[in-house]
Amino acid sequence: MKAAVFDSGIGGLTVVKSLLEHNLFDEIIYFGDTARVPYGIKDKNTIIRYSLEALEFFKNFDPDILIAACNSVSAYAIEELRANAPFPVVGVIEPGVLALKRRSIPKNSDILIIGTKATINSGKYQRLLKKEGFFNIDSKATGLFVPIVEEGIFEGELLDAALRHYFADTKPPKAVILGCTHFPLIADKIRDYFGSETILIHSGEAIVEHLEREFEVKKRDKQCSLKLFASESPQNLKKIAGLWL
Ligand code: DGL
Repeated sequence: MKAAVFDSGIGGLTVVKSLLEHNLFDEIIYFGDTARVPYGIKDKNTIIRYSLEALEFFKNFDPDILIAACNSVSAYAIEELRANAPFPVVGVIEPGVLALKRRSIPKNSDILIIGTKATINSGKYQRLLKKEGFFNIDSKATGLFVPIVEEGIFEGELLDAALRHYFADTKPPKAVILGCTHFPLIADKIRDYFGSETILIHSGEAIVEHLEREFEVKKRDKQCSLKLFASESPQNLKKIAGLWL
């Protein structure tokens, strides 16, 4: 089984990491739109246009499924991708919400969604969580974490200052949805900040559960082959993959 994984840049490698750990595919074709990243500060129409262009690239590989690893794409472009793709398309937002639902926490729990401006402004996580009965939902665009992670900063003063900048007035929630590809890389620091009681929802793990449940994708016997493509500096993507995967 062949999966296409789409992201705005390098961040989607956190989702690839989960897919590889669970060895769900024979082959993964990854495309990061590194020439036009970040998507998270762009508007809906631009994100849809870029996503449909990426879809044309993926069609050359005839994948069995397209996974939009990028939360900003999942927020705005899933319907358009589905309408134009000859294969199933899955984003990370619905799987994230379902993963939280399966934690069976009370519906009045405080839930915090963090992501890019596009993801938070789309209101998609908020809508789906409300549909599941959650009503104490807070959301914050925490875009500064993206360049911090891309700088390879996973701890230290700068990250601590950004955590305080965003969360000084936030009381520890029951759960935090890491609604951005980059945030799993600073998950430990986010958990340290809020305390060990706080549940973190990680898009990569959520999508693995979703694929196993909804698409009956099973662990493979042989190792998955990974092909990496980028719209700019593919060698940099490969270097980051070497560090992160
Ligand atoms: N991949 C994006 C996301 O998950 C983060 C980086 C960007 O803004 O493009 O929303």
